[in-house]
Amino acid sequence: MKIHGHPHRSIEADHPRRIARIVDQTFLPHQVAWRELETMEDAAEAIQVMRVRGAPLIGATAAFGLFFALRDAASDAALQHAYETLHSTRPTAINLRWALDRVRRVVLPLAVEKRADAAWNEALGICEEDVQTNHAIGKHALELFKAIQAKKADPTAPLNVMTHCNAGWIACVDWGTAISPIYQAHDAGLNVHVWVSETRPRGQGASLTAWELREHGVPHTLIVDNNAGHLLQRGLVDLVIVGADRVTAQGDVANKIGTYLKALAAKAHDVPFYVALPVSTIDWTITDGIRDIPIEQRSSREVTHMPGLNAEGLREEVLITPAGTQARNDGFDVTPAALVTALITEHGVFEANAAALAKLK
Ligand code: MRU
Repeated sequence: MKIHGHPHRSIEADHPRRIARIVDQTFLPHQVAWRELETMEDAAEAIQVMRVRGAPLIGATAAFGLFFALRDAASDAALQHAYETLHSTRPTAINLRWALDRVRRVVLPLAVEKRADAAWNEALGICEEDVQTNHAIGKHALELFKAIQAKKADPTAPLNVMTHCNAGWIACVDWGTAISPIYQAHDAGLNVHVWVSETRPRGQGASLTAWELREHGVPHTLIVDNNAGHLLQRGLVDLVIVGADRVTAQGDVANKIGTYLKALAAKAHDVPFYVALPVSTIDWTITDGIRDIPIEQRSSREVTHMPGLNAEGLREEVLITPAGTQARNDGFDVTPAALVTALITEHGVFEANAAALAKLK
């Protein structure tokens, strides 16, 4: 997508130097800061402190991380050490394991001296596929958008789409998952408006989705997360679309904390609740998402403090609670399949149940 009118991806390969460059998302939306990743440790740190975040981009970054490790030492032991280090960065997004398994599967049978090149090519392949996959997801979802628009009492009125967290191009390599159809709808001249939920505590909606949509010129309105139920109740939302970090074989969906509440409210008011995801986000090894999906516990400081720009335009973090307040910070929640209207993948639209998903496997 574009930054200040110039096409970019969230992670870009520098072929001559064989390094990767990322948009450091901890500086957004106030500054576009590019950062070079040159070592496995750089990649692991970027995932852990969320310079890169979003399931597909976490996977792509980890793939480059394995390349860096194999460039420096390509023995089985070195590969296993790098795999474990990268895999331990964050627990919920399954794309991390998917990408690490994919690169390891390719390089393990190879002679040690061939492994780094193969890992580099696999990381590039994961990036290229991500772009194609997300564009395809957008195309399938766009048909659903158009069908809902056509059924509106006034089809010329804006199609009001609600989203949660950031599942845009900055969470992937390009296009995004849940945001891809919004770009395609806007570019196709559909009158689309987005309710952007701020997504406490880290504000992925307020700082990243609002930034992306502004850069692309898509009409949007920021809301606090707690405003969502009220808008759904008042008929001001035509559909909800979110991304996913892990989807089980029966269609249970893990996504950013707060997604489950939106699914409950959407169901209560009969508003379609869609989940957009690449097939790489399906964990075929588990069925019961509420029981088996690991939920990341992040620092309570993310809840008790808020970052932003102060009056001098400098980044600052402020305490918003009484000092010493105890806080809990679950990073994700699980929406049971029964609350999901449909799963939108690169291969089309599927019901969120085991029988439908089995066709995808
Ligand atoms: O903690 P984050 O910012 O990595 O959480 C991201 C999300 O929950 C996204 O919705 C999900 O990863 C899909 S990104 C296409």
